Amino acid sequence: MATSRRHFLHGAGAAGLGAAFAPAQTRVSANDRIRIATIGHGGMGSGDTRYARSVPGVELVAVCDLYDGRLEHARELYGKDLFTTRDYREVLARKDIDAVIIATPDHWHSRISCDALAAGKDVYCEKPMVQQPAQGQDVVAAQASSGRIFQVGSQYVSSLVYQKARDLIKAGAVGQLNMVEAWLDRNTAIGAWEYSIPPDASPATVDWDRFLGNAPKVPFEAVRFFRWRNYRAYGTGVAGDLFVHLLSGLHFATGSLGPNRVYASGGLRYWKDGRDVPDVLLATLDYPEQPSHPAFTLALRVNLKSSMPQEQFGFRFIGSEGIITTGYNDLTLTSTPPERDPGYTIETFSKALQAEFLKQYREKYPPVKPSAEGMRPDREERYISPRGFDAHREHHRVFYEAVRSRKRPIEDAVFGLRAAGPALLSNTSYFERRICHWDAEKMQAA
Ligand SMILES: NC(=O)c1ccc[n+]([C@@H]2O[C@H](COP(=O)([O-])OP(=O)(O)OC[C@H]3O[C@@H](n4cnc5c(N)ncnc54)[C@H](O)[C@@H]3O)[C@@H](O)[C@H]2O)c1
Repeated sequence: MATSRRHFLHGAGAAGLGAAFAPAQTRVSANDRIRIATIGHGGMGSGDTRYARSVPGVELVAVCDLYDGRLEHARELYGKDLFTTRDYREVLARKDIDAVIIATPDHWHSRISCDALAAGKDVYCEKPMVQQPAQGQDVVAAQASSGRIFQVGSQYVSSLVYQKARDLIKAGAVGQLNMVEAWLDRNTAIGAWEYSIPPDASPATVDWDRFLGNAPKVPFEAVRFFRWRNYRAYGTGVAGDLFVHLLSGLHFATGSLGPNRVYASGGLRYWKDGRDVPDVLLATLDYPEQPSHPAFTLALRVNLKSSMPQEQFGFRFIGSEGIITTGYNDLTLTSTPPERDPGYTIETFSKALQAEFLKQYREKYPPVKPSAEGMRPDREERYISPRGFDAHREHHRVFYEAVRSRKRPIEDAVFGLRAAGPALLSNTSYFERRICHWDAEKMQAA
């Protein structure tokens, strides 16, 4: 990118607000190198970085993290010339960085995203886009005013399975969609967020004050830093961690803007390790009729100790004429044959009326003699992703394609808020024991 960096003006629509930030804007052309930095190089940030570097032309120049062990590991992986820091603002101040990956705990997402966009960086921000629904508008506004590319990292949106589901639903394969079930269950300690704590964890190796940010001030505790998901102050519970993936997939597959009503219940049933969030959560969300779909009801489920042999992750899109069931890499369409049975209730009619009913019915639906031509294929059709296709890799490819083309990706800040908002309202519903209302058009709690 260094060879063709040049300043450019914001597009007309973004000019007003964008001028206030006045960052040195850059544009990346098709063949340029894209220089990136990762902010938060833990479990997901290190995976995101690997995928980003697999995209031709993408080069990692800096890593920011609050634990020295992770900065040291980044230098082990990418060389001693890698710029490392505990302060993300040093990354944003560098003029040679075009884009940043934000993979910090959830309570830092909106702040770093807004700062990065204002500094003229393109942003790949991990899900959930925000920790609180109300923070979403800040990110949407920062995306609009900066004119930068922003993509949320709910990678299943780039999955071929959801593209196939979307095409089938649009083509009417399940008839009239009326209900969706979605689940993401786990059965391991790591799956339940009991992440490893390094033996050298201490206030000397961890930037504790910076980690806390706007969260309540409490003395250093390694378990809070390395298992931050277990605490509402830093994470978003199963709603923000896992429901959000399901809502992103659902909104992509149905073209929906979102639900208008959310109700959740559950509890802390198994992982009583000091966490203050539930490990079992069920939610019901009502989706009103929208241009892309009829009204339907969504049932969401997460159980972090489900005794299933492996992680369970899927959807059932249930319609009047069929069901689409998804897995990680495959999808099955089960079609229901049209109803042709006059039904047992005619037996309650008089003999004469039964005969008349059947006569009329047979005129409408003449009996078909069984024949070889009349044989139907199996009612189940299974579709499998091509071997080697990886939605996470694809999601990064899509992001850097957008960085080059300057065309907004599907999972931008508006999409991100429409998934995160109602997912996070499940938390509000659970903790406040009430039904929550969401205005999907305006993207705010109603
Ligand atoms: N898309 C997915 O499937 C997926 C999977 C896992 C995690 N995630 C998301 O990725 C994010 C990170 O999760 P994780 O599992 O990698 O957590 P993690 O604890 O493994 O890593 C987070 C890292 O961020 C660092 N950090 C904390 N505050 C920081 C700050 N202010 N500035 C810079 N670095 C900071 C920590 O030191 C840590 O190394 C979360 O938002 C999570 O929801 C997404």
